[in-house]
Amino acid sequence: MKLIIATIKPFKLEEVREALTSIGVRGMMVTEIKGFGSQSGHTEIYRGAEYAVNFVPKIKLEIVVAASMADQVVETIAKTAKTGKIGDGKVFVLDVGQAIRVRTGETDADAL
Ligand SMILES: Nc1ncnc2c1ncn2[C@@H]1O[C@H](COP(=O)(O)OP(=O)(O)OP(=O)(O)O)[C@@H](O)[C@H]1O
Ligand SMILES: [Mg+2]
Repeated sequence: MKLIIATIKPFKLEEVREALTSIGVRGMMVTEIKGFGSQSGHTEIYRGAEYAVNFVPKIKLEIVVAASMADQVVETIAKTAKTGKIGDGKVFVLDVGQAIRVRTGETDADAL
C-alpha cells in the first residue's frame, strides 16, 4: 500500500475528488491547510487577493491505495490539479505498513 499526500489549490478539490472517484479511489482524507513552497518570500494570488505573507491556503489530500494503483492516482492528481501557474501543489508518495477497517477487522488491501 502507498500513502499519497497531495496539496492542491482549494478550488480544484471537487474536480480532483471526482477524477479520483472515477478511477476507483474509495476513500480520502481532506484537510484545509496553509503552507508555502518555493516562492516563500514572494506573493501568490489566491482568489484575487494577494497574500503578502508566507502562508497560502491549500487543501491537503491523504489517500491510501494498493501499491498497484499509486501511479494512476498520482498522475490523475497531477493532471487534474494543474493550472500551470505557481502554487499548483506537490504530491508525495510514502509506503504504508498496515491498514485495518475497524468495523470488520479486515486488514491491508481488504481494509481500503
Ligand atoms: N518541501 C515541501 N514539504 C512539505 N510541503 C510542501 C513542500 N513544498 C510545498 N509544500 C506544500 O505544498 C503547497 C504548495 O506548494 P507549491 O505548489 O507552491 O510548491 P512550489 O514548489 O512552490 O511550486 P510552484 O513553483 O508551482 O509554486 C505549499 O503550500 C505547502 O503546503
Ligand atoms: Mg509555490
